Amino acid sequence: MHKVLTFFIRILAIFIPMKQLRRKFRNFCCSYVNSSIQDYGKNNKLILIKNNKEILNPKIKGLKVIFGGSNSVVKLSTPIKFKDCRWVLGNNNKIEIKSAEHINKLDIPHRMSDNTTLFIDEDFSCEGAIFYLHDEPDKEIIIGKDCMFSFGITLWPSDGHSIFNNKGELINFPQKKLTIGNHVWIGHGALILKNSAIPDGSIIGARSLVNKAFSEKNTIIAGTPAKIVKRDILWNRKYPSYYAQKMVDDKNV
Ligand SMILES: CC(C)(COP(=O)(O)OP(=O)(O)OC[C@H]1O[C@@H](n2cnc3c(N)ncnc32)[C@H](O)[C@@H]1OP(=O)(O)O)[C@@H](O)C(=O)NCCC(=O)NCCS
Repeated sequence: MHKVLTFFIRILAIFIPMKQLRRKFRNFCCSYVNSSIQDYGKNNKLILIKNNKEILNPKIKGLKVIFGGSNSVVKLSTPIKFKDCRWVLGNNNKIEIKSAEHINKLDIPHRMSDNTTLFIDEDFSCEGAIFYLHDEPDKEIIIGKDCMFSFGITLWPSDGHSIFNNKGELINFPQKKLTIGNHVWIGHGALILKNSAIPDGSIIGARSLVNKAFSEKNTIIAGTPAKIVKRDILWNRKYPSYYAQKMVDDKNV
C-alpha cells in the first residue's frame, strides 16, 4: 500500500513548480508514508534489529510509534510481527521487545510518562492489550520470556489520582517497578493494577483483577481480587484436546 502512496506523492510533486518546494513536499510525504514513526521531538529512534544489523526508523507493518517528546528509543528484534499497534511515547522512554510471535492490538494510547521503560523478553505473544503508562514518571515494566497475553488485557500500574488519610498523608503510592515473570499466561480481560508482581509459570484467570505481588511460581491466580486457586501447575500453548486425544491414543496402544 505504501508503495502505491509513494508513487502518487511523486506524481503530485511534479505539479509543484519550485524545485526546492517540490523536493520538500516529496520528502515530507514519503517519510510520513514510508515510516512507522511520527516524530514531534528530537533524538528519537525506532530501531529494528535484523540479522545482527540495526535498521533505523524502518517501516514496520502494523505498528505506529508516535514520539510526542524527545530522547526516546524503541528497540525491536526480529522475528517480530505486529497488527494494529499504536504507541505514544513521551520524554526519555525506552521500549524494548526481544522477539514476538505476534503482537496484535497492543495499545499505549496516552503519552508515556517521562523516564518510563517497558521491556519484553523473547517469544512474547499478545492478542489485545492496553498499557496505561502515562500518569506517573520513572516507571519500569518488565515482562519475561515466553509470555502469552490473551485478548482485552489492561495493565495500569498507578491510580492516576491521589488518596489521603485523615492526617492528609498520601496513602496510594505509585508502583515504580512491575514485573511479570517468564512463561506467564494472562487470561482474557485481566486487569493488572499497581502493586502487582506475577511470578514465573503463572496463569492469570480470565477477568481477574491482580492488585498485589505474588511470589509463588507455577500457580493459577484468579478472581477479583485475584488469589491463588491452584498450585504446582505447568502449562503450554497447545490445545487441551491435543493431550486429551493423546491420552485416548496411548490407552489404545
Ligand atoms: C484460569 C483457568 C485456566 C483455570 O482453569 P482450571 O485449571 O480448569 O481451573 P478450574 O476451573 O478447576 O478452577 C479452579 C478454581 O478457580 C476458580 N476460577 C477459575 N478461573 C477463574 C476466574 N477466571 N476467575 C475467578 N475464579 C476462577 C474456579 O471457580 C475454581 O474455584 P473453586 O475451587 O472454589 O471451585 C480458567 O478458568 C481460565 O480463566 N481460562 C482463561 C481462558 C482464556 O482467557 N483463554 C485465552 C486464550 S488466548
